[in-house]
Amino acid sequence: MSQASARAHSNIALIKYWGKRQTRLNLPAVGSISVTLDDLYTDTTVVFDEALPADRARIGEAEVDTARFSEFVDIVREAAGITTRVDIASTNNFPTGAGLASSASGFAALALATTRAAGLDLSARELSILARRGSGSAARSIFGGLVEMHRGERTDGQDAFAEPMLTADAWPLEVVVAITDTGTKKINSTAGMSSLDTRSDYYEAWVNRAEDDLADMRAAIAARDFTTVGALSEMSCLKLHALMLSTRPGLIYWNAATVSAMHAVREMRDNGLEAYFTIDAGPQVKALCAPGQGAAVAAELARVPGVIETRRTGLGPDAHSQ
Ligand code: DP6
Repeated sequence: MSQASARAHSNIALIKYWGKRQTRLNLPAVGSISVTLDDLYTDTTVVFDEALPADRARIGEAEVDTARFSEFVDIVREAAGITTRVDIASTNNFPTGAGLASSASGFAALALATTRAAGLDLSARELSILARRGSGSAARSIFGGLVEMHRGERTDGQDAFAEPMLTADAWPLEVVVAITDTGTKKINSTAGMSSLDTRSDYYEAWVNRAEDDLADMRAAIAARDFTTVGALSEMSCLKLHALMLSTRPGLIYWNAATVSAMHAVREMRDNGLEAYFTIDAGPQVKALCAPGQGAAVAAELARVPGVIETRRTGLGPDAHSQ
């Protein structure tokens, strides 16, 4: 029997990933840039146990279908030359599957815990490549601070990994998450992206513009130009949702409170608070805040009708063993 535990932090993309250039190795069609969140994380313990008749997985108290996890652990079993069944126990300190990037922190924690438990010692880059196989956004959660995920060009996926851009303390941005619905989303990102087969008319434009958006964001981050980072983040978010809305059938991830919170963030800016919104494949609104502005932004967002709860966080660290 061998066991290992790991913690990985959730992340939010500022320049979004959506669309795959290859599904088998989960290769993204576009690169992305994200911030890793300190206060939202997944803790995972993995036990390889000869006595287990089959793989087992739990998220919190709930037993979950092992298919997606077993397929992922098979990659590690093959690399380690073992066939032992695994017990996975995972907890998120935030709602699972509700557009708060639980698959990002989940597969990053699983990549680290599984490889350690299997006796493998992977580099951070190798872990990022492995985590990507579970979920594209998970490749970014291997690293803390601000992170860039490379789309890569190779067909074997060895150049599709994330890399750190700035550590969390190099630029102490804050993020406020406004939770407008704690239920599980109806169409997760993987399924949503796969309906791009019945493609949006905007998909080609999305892919073609991605490199320019990434270059603009890199430059703004290097200059610590918060206004441009924020404006690019809102633009990438709205472009992503235009793409989702124009898929057939259209994907509408927002509820009324989502839209109210977007307007509230823009009003805050008019009143001198430096915050910009971003939204993923779910109804929660995340506000990227200039250093020191998180508390005031959280107080404003808490007042928006339909906002159930707010979470305020700084930028978090690399995934690590526990
Ligand atoms: C909207 O990483 O969850 O959050 O690779 O299919 O697991 P899979 O998708 P996933 O998609 C994330 C989409 C997004 C934008 C982002 O995080 O970049």
